[in-house]
Amino acid sequence: MSQLTRDPNLDTYNSPELTSHYSSLNYLTPCERLLFDEYLTPGMTILDLGVGGGRTTPYLSSLAGRYVGADYAAEMISACQNKFPHLEFENVDAADLSMFATSSFDAVVMAFNGIDSLFPDESRYRAFREMHRVLKPKGILIFSAHNARSIFVRPSWNPLRLADLAGKIVGSDSVLYRPLLWSLTGLRAAVALLQSMVKSLSRVARRLPTRAFCSGEGYLMDAAHGGMRVHVSIPENVERELNRFGFRLLRVLGDDYPQVSRLYVTDWYYYVFSSAEATGGGKDCG
Ligand SMILES: C[S@@+](CC[C@H](N)C(=O)[O-])C[C@H]1O[C@@H](n2cnc3c(N)ncnc32)[C@H](O)[C@@H]1O
Repeated sequence: MSQLTRDPNLDTYNSPELTSHYSSLNYLTPCERLLFDEYLTPGMTILDLGVGGGRTTPYLSSLAGRYVGADYAAEMISACQNKFPHLEFENVDAADLSMFATSSFDAVVMAFNGIDSLFPDESRYRAFREMHRVLKPKGILIFSAHNARSIFVRPSWNPLRLADLAGKIVGSDSVLYRPLLWSLTGLRAAVALLQSMVKSLSRVARRLPTRAFCSGEGYLMDAAHGGMRVHVSIPENVERELNRFGFRLLRVLGDDYPQVSRLYVTDWYYYVFSSAEATGGGKDCG
């Protein structure tokens, strides 16, 4: 496995905490389900890049004619091999896919912003060049990437938990159940609003003065997993960058789907690109 510069995020991804966290995930988001259902078809050869603990493996492998999960974190790959011993997993860096033949996949998926770990820009460029090389012409690339302009946090809470709590306090068939549920909901909404205001203020203070926010592209320290440097971008810059590597944009969808995406709210976007015939893409990217 080769890397241009040692990525400090690699140690974080190899840690037992993160490996077990990602291994415990077993769902698809509504946004992923919609895009996978729409753009991936049965029998495709699929490369699941930055596979992590295999969250997307059950869905993608059940669809694929050939499925390969790949990650640069050896611990993530061991966890996947333990969970899915009958499937193929490889310990590779997205910036060097030389172990895969040219035009060998119908689709490449890189879910939950794995692409944003790559540093410096040249590593990300190499990854996109490699994805284009291993994809068949008109192959599908689906990935998500952090939004450079996300500064506001929506208030959110789990209504099922409140219903559960109200049921536990007075019983779900009590006449007091509805009034209690309304009161709990009102209280929870007020707390959620306050929490979202505090989080938004903190984000505004941290992100608004950055070059990444102003230009719509750059690197930020993300609070996730104890602090990781991540690349962030806005959809028009992602499209421009990918066009240079021979990709054509098919769809952009906020990870917050089915809520309406908002540039200053949506945390990250999913992108669907199609790989065009090779035209020497990426020459202008160093
Ligand atoms: C946020 S996790 C997402 C894991 C999984 N895709 C999911 O959706 O649950 C990002 C994953 O990308 C992997 N990753 C980051 N940079 C990578 C690189 N340069 N090459 C391959 N994998 C990488 C990390 O090791 C980690 O497993």
